[in-house]
Amino acid sequence: MKKMMVAGNWKMNMLRYQAKDLTQDILSGLVDVKDDIDIVLAPPFTALDVVSGLIGNSRVMLAAQNVFWEDRGAFTGEISPAMLVDAGCKWVIIGHSERRGILGETDTVVRKKIKASLSDGLNVIVCVGETLQEREVGKTIKIVQSQVESALMDLELDDPQRFVIAYEPVWAIGTGENATPKEAEDVHVTIREITGSIFAQDSELIRIIYGGSVNGDNIDELLHMENIDGALIGGAGLDADSFVKIVKIAGE
Ligand code: 13P
Repeated sequence: MKKMMVAGNWKMNMLRYQAKDLTQDILSGLVDVKDDIDIVLAPPFTALDVVSGLIGNSRVMLAAQNVFWEDRGAFTGEISPAMLVDAGCKWVIIGHSERRGILGETDTVVRKKIKASLSDGLNVIVCVGETLQEREVGKTIKIVQSQVESALMDLELDDPQRFVIAYEPVWAIGTGENATPKEAEDVHVTIREITGSIFAQDSELIRIIYGGSVNGDNIDELLHMENIDGALIGGAGLDADSFVKIVKIAGE
């Protein structure tokens, strides 16, 4: 059965001592949360070991926020999928709009990272989403379609539950202005049609989660939509109470 997913993307926040405090607070808030929801924390690279040590064998899973596509070698500053697995990661976020927009990541780069990660045992959350400018000229569906099709090109999925697509409209990230449930659902339906055309009924197990100014007040409505299978949380994930509240609502 498909489980809901709530993932906290901490972005470039949290020194190690802060990561420790936040993780401890989240873990103690989660003690009475039901098991049928996947909870993922994505701290910065420098705090992966701190968070990994604290979550241990708990139900919370560790994610990295980025990865390189080669196994090893002369790639100064990069980190391979095998290194992330070694650091305790089960998941990796790939193609976040901040990486696409600020660091110049292309669809081709995103695809290479997805393939390398899946084949080295990491599960993938790939992010897609249109900018404000693209939305304003009515290109939302076109942009998301091409990002998703590119991410899925020649992809073989041994287990569809290892692959999550996060729809994160860029204009909704960190702005306090989230897509309405209906707006998000419309895009999720398009994504579901694409995954369906490629993976047939297996595609039902691919989770499509929403991200962009999600908080404890708007999560409930969003998750009532048929094709919204969870959320990728930025700002609200840096506060243990808010994050736990979102997880609890998602688990209801
Ligand atoms: P906010 O929740 O801060 O809008 O960030 C969303 C996001 O980018 C998660 O990856």
